Amino acid sequence: MSATGQTRALTPPDIAARKGKTPLVCLTAYTTPVARLVDPHCDVVLVGDSVGMVLHGLPTTLGVTLEMMILHGQAVRRGLERALMVLDMPFGTYEESPEQAFRNAARVMAETGSAAVKLEGGEAVAETIRFLSARGIPVMAHVGLTPQSVNAFGGYRVQGRGGDGERIRRDALAVAEAGAFAVVLEKVPEPLARRITEEVSIPTIGIGASPACDGQILVVDDMLGLFGDFRPKFVKRYAELGQAADAAIATYAREVKERRFPAAEHVFGDDPKTVRGGEAA
Ligand code: KIV
Repeated sequence: MSATGQTRALTPPDIAARKGKTPLVCLTAYTTPVARLVDPHCDVVLVGDSVGMVLHGLPTTLGVTLEMMILHGQAVRRGLERALMVLDMPFGTYEESPEQAFRNAARVMAETGSAAVKLEGGEAVAETIRFLSARGIPVMAHVGLTPQSVNAFGGYRVQGRGGDGERIRRDALAVAEAGAFAVVLEKVPEPLARRITEEVSIPTIGIGASPACDGQILVVDDMLGLFGDFRPKFVKRYAELGQAADAAIATYAREVKERRFPAAEHVFGDDPKTVRGGEAA
């Protein structure tokens, strides 16, 4: 049983049933240790294709491959007990046809144990969402700023201001109607997020989309201060682990140069029975 008293892992229908109730807590994870850290606190853990930028140093998410997602998905799966795992379908693995999307989504689910996938796009992928949902693949949708379309948008700008809001609203309605169990709303103005949340039947999960949404998601490395100087307006830094790590590494470097590390308690003696610093050789 988990710290929250929950005895089984959450499922896509559990997440869908949270519409309008206690806000959904969602974070990304790409590795087993981070999955273990976030699992007791989260409803959804997303293996996001942001992994390409955050862990692999890629300039955008466009270079992320299915193989990378599978490897990180397997690592995350090993660290989860209660949260629903959702895995991002990378650019180029689902847009061609519903059949291509099914083939690749079925492969990642079989090879990682993920219970659901996430696709970017609204009306343009609604038919694919319908095809997957009807064949046992739960889909989380993603509308607003969809980072895989960064070239088409000309940057990571807020989407849906003014008259453009109607396009995002139609996208959200289309993915909900097609059978998505939840929809991520990224970087849209608060009034639009509120309107969409009121109108769609499925939970909206906001990232830069205001507290009007049914839940929130952040990239875990951003909120822990681990992803360099990346400080977009929508990210609250809950810790400064990057700074803490920098200070620790600087201390290590100084102590190595001054021969203060390793100290006596880190050193093995000649006689295996001699215990130094509490640990036998
Ligand atoms: O790739 C990602 O991390 C995402 C976000 C919604 C957090 O898609």
